[in-house]
Amino acid sequence: MRISLVFCCIFNLYIATFFSMAALSVSGQCQRDQQQLLLGFKNSLNSSLSVKLGTWNQGTDCCSWHGIICDASGRVIQLDLSSDRLSGEINNSNSLFRLQHLQALNLADNTDLGGQLPESIGNLGQLIRIELRNCKFTGPIPKTLEKLTQLIYLDFSYNNFSGPLPSFTSSSLPNLVRLILRQNSFSGVVPPALFQSKSLEEMDLAENQFSSGFGEVKGELSSVLEAIDLNHNGLEGQFPMFVFEIKGLRYLSLSGNKLSGVIPLSAFQKLQNLSTLDLSYTNLSIDSSFTNPSLPLLLPFPNLFKLNLASCNLTKFPEFLKNLSCLGYLDLSNNRIHGQVPSWIWTPCLDHLNLSLNFLVQLETPSYINPHAMSVFDLHGNQLQGKIPFFTPSAEYLDYSNNNFSSVIPPQIGDFLRFAYFFSLSGNNFHGSIPESICNGSYLAVFDLSNNSLSGSIPQCVMTQMSWLLGVLDLKQNNLSGTISDTFRENCGLQTLDLNQNRLGGKVPKSLANCRRLEVLDLGNNQIDDTFPCHLNNTSKLRVLVLRSNKFSGDVNCRGNNLTWPMLQIIDLASNAFSGKLPQGLLMTWDSMKAHRVEPYSQHLRYQFPLSTDIYYQDSVTVTMKGLELELVKILTIFTSIDLSSNKFEGHIPEAIGDCNNGPAGLDVFTEKKKLVREESPPILLFRCDWNT
Ligand SMILES: *[C@@H]1O[C@H](CO)[C@@H](O)[C@H](O)[C@H]1NC(C)=O
Ligand SMILES: *[C@@H]1O[C@H](CO)[C@@H](O)[C@H](O)[C@H]1NC(C)=O
Ligand SMILES: *[C@@H]1O[C@H](CO)[C@@H](O)[C@H](O)[C@H]1NC(C)=O
Ligand SMILES: *[C@@H]1O[C@H](CO)[C@@H](O)[C@H](O)[C@H]1NC(C)=O
Ligand SMILES: *[C@@H]1O[C@H](CO)[C@@H](O)[C@H](O)[C@H]1NC(C)=O
Ligand SMILES: *[C@@H]1O[C@H](CO)[C@@H](O)[C@H](O)[C@H]1NC(C)=O
Ligand SMILES: *[C@@H]1O[C@H](CO)[C@@H](O)[C@H](O)[C@H]1NC(C)=O
Ligand SMILES: *[C@@H]1O[C@H](CO)[C@@H](O)[C@H](O)[C@H]1NC(C)=O
Ligand SMILES: *[C@@H]1O[C@H](CO)[C@@H](O)[C@H](O)[C@H]1NC(C)=O
Ligand SMILES: *[C@@H]1O[C@H](CO)[C@@H](O)[C@H](O)[C@H]1NC(C)=O
Ligand SMILES: *[C@@H]1O[C@H](CO)[C@@H](O)[C@H](O)[C@H]1NC(C)=O
Ligand SMILES: *[C@@H]1O[C@H](CO)[C@@H](O)[C@H](O)[C@H]1NC(C)=O
Repeated sequence: MRISLVFCCIFNLYIATFFSMAALSVSGQCQRDQQQLLLGFKNSLNSSLSVKLGTWNQGTDCCSWHGIICDASGRVIQLDLSSDRLSGEINNSNSLFRLQHLQALNLADNTDLGGQLPESIGNLGQLIRIELRNCKFTGPIPKTLEKLTQLIYLDFSYNNFSGPLPSFTSSSLPNLVRLILRQNSFSGVVPPALFQSKSLEEMDLAENQFSSGFGEVKGELSSVLEAIDLNHNGLEGQFPMFVFEIKGLRYLSLSGNKLSGVIPLSAFQKLQNLSTLDLSYTNLSIDSSFTNPSLPLLLPFPNLFKLNLASCNLTKFPEFLKNLSCLGYLDLSNNRIHGQVPSWIWTPCLDHLNLSLNFLVQLETPSYINPHAMSVFDLHGNQLQGKIPFFTPSAEYLDYSNNNFSSVIPPQIGDFLRFAYFFSLSGNNFHGSIPESICNGSYLAVFDLSNNSLSGSIPQCVMTQMSWLLGVLDLKQNNLSGTISDTFRENCGLQTLDLNQNRLGGKVPKSLANCRRLEVLDLGNNQIDDTFPCHLNNTSKLRVLVLRSNKFSGDVNCRGNNLTWPMLQIIDLASNAFSGKLPQGLLMTWDSMKAHRVEPYSQHLRYQFPLSTDIYYQDSVTVTMKGLELELVKILTIFTSIDLSSNKFEGHIPEAIGDCNNGPAGLDVFTEKKKLVREESPPILLFRCDWNT
């Protein structure tokens, strides 16, 4: 990424210089026709929320309006209304397309602005730069776009353009340097001319539907093309061998497609400038041995900085990595690599290492670890044994879960968690107690020690000291004892607190009410001796409440203290000593909620990191059905379940909820595990009728 950023900065500098020179020469008074055209454009839109258009008034010089730059003779050459909350549709007769001197048009980040891009876009023959990123454009790109022969930079990413791309013959758009069409619905073939263009340096067609492949690419290939991003396009067929002839490539991503074949990694040696290679999840088998006798002495990829070969059917570590001086990002996850992690993997620049989901059993002690590198370290899902290797004080993301590590957690663990926001040791054989020093992990958002053999009590500092950033605290399935300290801080940010299957006693802390964002509270299978947690009446986001198999007693109707849990979807109070009337109010709220749930089926309950959009933590919860424990690894937000069995409740089930023999009206009762964990399932209601068993 680093290299490609440099590349884009240099490019932007070039464009910026061009326009600041244009801006310097502004002196002209706005020409009258230009003013009228701009006002016509303004009037065609809904600008009620716009800031910039507020300055566009008849009485003033249009060259002084926000977002406008004119040339010396008062003709508008630049129009920038990006991020201005404009809405409306732009059609063929819009006066925008009569601003014939425009060289730069930027309407990006107006998410309610769009429509079909009209043919009259072809009238703007002087355009050098056009940005419609993150708007609401739909439909095909008109063929008239090819008339914009001066165009250097085109960014239509994050819209919903569809249909095939114009063929872009070698003579059309002869100056285009960057073509950015990421995240649209374009389909058909990737036009062959793009690989033969004499100007194009970067093409970003990622996240579209170019499933028909590459057309017929023949003839002379580009000597200037440096970046190709085609990730997530559903591309099928053979690997595009011609890319090996695009010798200047620095960035190549084909990740997330459905290609077929076996590709020797040595073939990429022809691409000596390659700095990013992403072939993850392409369905290709990558053969990582270097046996190309014609190129024995060539150092492969001297500039390689990022290599992602996740899910490439690799069986061993690519040996050539030994010779790389500065590999920063290495992802070999989800392959079939057995044995040891060699010590040479830790090059001085290594910052992101993902070896998860392989069959690794041992980590060789590295000869050198750069204390300032290694921020992401993911080893989950291997069979690594023994002690955990903690040697990266700068780590931000540490996932050692689902291995075979067995030792105590080192007392000085906190020293390695100072910058960590994700830390998981889940699913190993750690024993001993939880060291107090973990509370020095003040940026921790996810802290997961579940499924181990930890004993002793939960350090009090976890509640008092850890920051509002802590969103997930998962200590389920250990041997923790003692009470849950009643010291949850004001501003507690917990969204998931899972302490299921321990030996915790005492009460549900009153201060838990400080955690107003709580969505999942699972205290099941402990020895908590308390009454129903009526004091959590401010946790209005609660979706999952599991108190099963404890020593709870008393009634569940919070008198004078109305619970507002409108999101509640799973409630499990089974196997306690609750008594009194069935909680009619709660049942009714819960029932009406499920009918009105509107989230899309694919939505799962998860914790989203505050500073990132693409990293999240998947919540899971154990639901008990007919004596069978099922872990719902992904909790669908439409999943609803209620279990009040094995208590001392009296009274009737509200009729609205359902008929016990047939299951609730209109909803299916599922009994098979595979249906429960299926990703896209219809609304599920788990409903138990054995209230008093
Ligand atoms: C084009 O848009 C303008 C205003 O935005 C509208 O008045 C006009 O009717 C539209 N023309 C067509 C053909 O849709
Ligand atoms: C203009 O946009 C605002 C804000 O989105 C909206 O409230 C208003 O109804 C719109 N006006 C018209 C005429 O569509
Ligand atoms: C995008 O457009 C396609 C077809 O033009 C349509 O099927 C799809 O629903 C649209 N997607 C969104 C998110 O609007
Ligand atoms: C590789 O990069 C160098 C330095 O940027 C450049 O001079 C050279 O032409 C590039 N090689 C190819 C084959 O494009
Ligand atoms: C995945 O690769 C295999 C082996 O090359 C091939 O047989 C299969 O058709 C490919 N799958 C798809 C969906 O292309
Ligand atoms: C790669 O490294 C190995 C040992 O680390 C060395 O023997 C070999 O000569 C190196 N190859 C090149 C091309 O530098
Ligand atoms: C993975 O590679 C092996 C050979 O090492 C091959 O037999 C198998 O078909 C490949 N699997 C896939 C999914 O391509
Ligand atoms: C590591 O790779 C796995 C499997 O490819 C992926 O699910 C996981 O998100 C990756 N970890 C990080 C930190 O990116
Ligand atoms: C886990 O590690 C122990 C040694 O600590 C070993 O005996 C056992 O076979 C390992 N289990 C697996 C499943 O690899
Ligand atoms: C947290 O870090 C500080 C400074 O490094 C250290 O003095 C303190 O002992 C640590 N706290 C714990 C609980 O380890
Ligand atoms: C919430 O609970 C507290 C303590 O139990 C109580 O004082 C308060 O009145 C309750 N608020 C509502 C709206 O029920
Ligand atoms: C609880 O709800 C009942 C009936 O809806 C209402 O009479 C009572 O005032 C509410 N109590 C509180 C504390 O809001």
